[in-house]
Amino acid sequence: MRTQVVIIGSGPAGLLLGQLLTNAGIDNVILERVSQDYVLGRIRAGVLEEGMAGLLDEAGAGERMRREGLPHDGFDLTFSGKHHRIDLHGLTGKHVIVYGQTEVTRNLMDRRAATGGISIYEAADVQPNDFDGERPYVTYSKDGVEHRLDCDFIAGCDGYHGPSRKAVEGKGLETFERVYPFGWLGIVADVPPVSHELIYSNHRRGFALCSMRSATRSRYYVQCGLDDRVEAWSDDRFWDEIRSRLPAETAEAMTTGPSIEKSIAPLRSFVAEPLRFGRLFLVGDAGHIVPPTGAKGLNLAASDVRYLFDALQEYYAEQSAAGIDGYSARALARVWKAERFSWWMTNTLHRFPDTGTFGQRIQEAELEYLTGSRAASTSLAENYVGLPY
Ligand code: APR
Ligand code: PHB
Repeated sequence: MRTQVVIIGSGPAGLLLGQLLTNAGIDNVILERVSQDYVLGRIRAGVLEEGMAGLLDEAGAGERMRREGLPHDGFDLTFSGKHHRIDLHGLTGKHVIVYGQTEVTRNLMDRRAATGGISIYEAADVQPNDFDGERPYVTYSKDGVEHRLDCDFIAGCDGYHGPSRKAVEGKGLETFERVYPFGWLGIVADVPPVSHELIYSNHRRGFALCSMRSATRSRYYVQCGLDDRVEAWSDDRFWDEIRSRLPAETAEAMTTGPSIEKSIAPLRSFVAEPLRFGRLFLVGDAGHIVPPTGAKGLNLAASDVRYLFDALQEYYAEQSAAGIDGYSARALARVWKAERFSWWMTNTLHRFPDTGTFGQRIQEAELEYLTGSRAASTSLAENYVGLPY
């Protein structure tokens, strides 16, 4: 079989790129290791920048998001028992949309099915080959039968553990990493959110975040230890812990109920350079990871897709490789700014084992400065709503 672009991975990055290419008349096939239901069972991020929302519209997959997504004009920071609202819209003229990644993925899958895009799920041993030359191809097996897909380009949208980045190890790949000494324990519960806006809390017992998926579904997180186990966290223990990390009136207002999902995720900052190796591109989590504090992971996958789609379109429409040659530098320039922001949000809001009393006071001063200065608040807000593409 032959196609123009093979996309490895059916997460938001792969699906969004695939849909933009299909709409532009560029042939593509998506190869995914797990089943469609498995992909849709993963609970991930939930805050979309305007740039990403616009890309979903452009892909023809934005309608439900526009109908059901929750536009947020601000969020709350709490520390030292106080609340402070960051007025995103007042400071930047922009807002974010709270809408689950799972829904984004579902809408993109539906759109792909409606427009006749080919996706091969449960494809095993997916391997990019010969991308250094002019004729790359991808091999995989399906139901025990081996296949080969010839193509012009390979888009590695296969997440942090996928085969694309592994295929370029030892070929000039450089990586940059920071692992944080804690994780996030997250739950989903069908209870109304405690507030109509997100609450990020810095507390001496550790960070906490109150988020949501809808008017009736809450998404809550607490900072936990790296060796914590989900089984050790009953629902009651979780609710007691998150309430203890919030100002009293917020804790009292919180509706609790049985969790429908509970999991622990480690926090990591990671960047691979470059993001292009001949005719293979690293896109989204395959090329970089941010800790979730700034809600940037999904949005960075979208900006990579924007740059790569523009580059591929230019290649096919104008026979120009300029966009392709520039992809890595363009994407990395935005990636590093989001890495900086996510690292800074993480440092500012979490309790580190080695913070000490000096570090503690510095964190408090940072938060006081942030909330007391329009310039500092604007800097936070412009990063949170998303830097321009
Ligand atoms: N073969 C084929 N597909 C693979 C393979 C493989 N060997 N390994 C991984 N994949 C698939 C995964 O199963 C997954 O569906 O690649 C997909 C990668 O999707 P994501 O991990 O969701 O990554 P991405 O599309 O870059 O989305 C960006 O934003 O909220 C953050 O980290 C979060 O998932 C999120 C990301
Ligand atoms: C979420 O709703 O899952 C969420 C929101 C904001 C974040 C991280 C995660 O910073």
